[in-house]
Amino acid sequence: MGSTTTNPFKHQPHSLTKKLLPWTLYALLLISLLPLYFFTIPTFQLHQHTPIITTTTTSSSSSSSSPTSKEEKRAINAQMACDYSNGKWVPDKVGPLYNGTSCGTIKDGQNCMSHGRPDLGYLYWKWKPNQCKLPRFFPETFLQILRNKHLAFVGDSMARNQLESLLCMLSSASPPKLVYTNGDDIKFRRWHFHSHNVTVSIYWSPFLVKGIEKTESESVNYNRLYLDSVDERWASDMDRMDIIVLSVGHWFLHPAVYYNGESVLGCHYCTGLNYTEVGFYDVFRKAFNTTLNAIIERRGSSSNGIGVIVTTFSPHHFEGEWDKFGACPKTQPYMEGEKELEGMDAEMRGVEVVEVRAAKEKAKNFGGLRLDVLDVTKLSLMRPDGHPGPYMYANPFANGIGERVQNDCVHWCLPGPVDTWNEIMLDVMKRWEV
Ligand SMILES: *[C@@H]1O[C@H](CO)[C@@H](O)[C@H](O)[C@H]1NC(C)=O
Ligand SMILES: *[C@@H]1O[C@H](CO)[C@@H](O)[C@H](O)[C@H]1NC(C)=O
Ligand SMILES: *[C@@H]1O[C@H](CO)[C@@H](O)[C@H](O)[C@H]1NC(C)=O
Ligand SMILES: *[C@@H]1O[C@H](CO)[C@@H](O)[C@H](O)[C@H]1NC(C)=O
Repeated sequence: MGSTTTNPFKHQPHSLTKKLLPWTLYALLLISLLPLYFFTIPTFQLHQHTPIITTTTTSSSSSSSSPTSKEEKRAINAQMACDYSNGKWVPDKVGPLYNGTSCGTIKDGQNCMSHGRPDLGYLYWKWKPNQCKLPRFFPETFLQILRNKHLAFVGDSMARNQLESLLCMLSSASPPKLVYTNGDDIKFRRWHFHSHNVTVSIYWSPFLVKGIEKTESESVNYNRLYLDSVDERWASDMDRMDIIVLSVGHWFLHPAVYYNGESVLGCHYCTGLNYTEVGFYDVFRKAFNTTLNAIIERRGSSSNGIGVIVTTFSPHHFEGEWDKFGACPKTQPYMEGEKELEGMDAEMRGVEVVEVRAAKEKAKNFGGLRLDVLDVTKLSLMRPDGHPGPYMYANPFANGIGERVQNDCVHWCLPGPVDTWNEIMLDVMKRWEV
């Protein structure tokens, strides 16, 4: 598995001709993920509950530069920023910027429209933060901000979900050209928007740190994570990125053995192995710590600056068994107060919020680094209606309702709630621009 340290963008030939792998492979991945939700998650690792915080900067008093400096303006601007992490979904007549046929980059499993999902009500909701209004997404504005820049998504299939939503929204203004693909299941891809010289790419890295994923062919059925080393498959390209979106989480639930250098720190869900069960919250924290430190060390002092956005944990909505009809049957968002952020969703989000806050504090010593969480956990939690469910496959009920039907209550339909994540991301980037 020496290839895990290889950056596929650098060392592999361009292979645009590579065919899309059949969705069945992806299904295998999902199958291996879903049953884990039904095993008890160890709770002895729970940290004190992290309070809901806003993404506004907590302090701007330490700045010693002139009051009109860009940094100062940014700080002031950030304080006036909208806290979009709490709010409610309200009906919205306008609907999405794209649909299941107008955009070519939607992964099959998330193209609910083309797979025959009959209800379309889930497309007509808008997130209304408590204290402010979230501006609509203007593709043109987004592209202008990114002019001559490279935006890179790094993470797992939730990163891909968000990337594909963004590409679809941007495509409505300017069609991108796919200029690079590599990896099974198209794990590494890059697009170029000629109109604005914008590059958007995605790097598969479900742990952010170096990890060896368990494979079907190998006898081991657990992942190996090297918590002290950042994953060079993406990190070696860091000097050519202007904005990095990090989005991970669900893969940390898998059985795994954790390493610090050569020594084993412990493991998770590792029956049969003689290692200590350590859960995954601390591991998740350490992965972010290593990742954010690596970005600060390598890019913190660079003159051209870099922005880091951490998309917070995205909740799943399995209500019943994952292979039974109606695993996530809701067709409307939860109303205010109907669903609280708690348990694993709150813990995972909390880790990300705390780590980004720590990194932000550290980055103050450097000029060129901006960091923010894209706090989507609560607003996504309120959208049980936004998942593909059985429509991860085309026309699942063409022959009536069968005994077993696989459901995806983890990823999100496109168009769908993830479009709102990108609406907020544009808002974050606008603030950075000041
Ligand atoms: C999808 O969008 C395209 C272009 O905007 C439009 O022509 C088409 O009718 C739409 N299809 C559906 C099913 O809404
Ligand atoms: C396009 O953007 C890249 C950075 O992503 C930059 O290196 C290059 O010089 C830009 N090209 C032009 C023509 O401005
Ligand atoms: C498990 O590890 C402990 C401590 O390293 C060792 O004493 C013990 O013999 C090991 N047990 C097995 C079954 O290998
Ligand atoms: C990483 O953890 C160390 C030790 O706990 C801490 O001092 C540091 O601030 C953390 N760094 C980041 C970027 O979170």
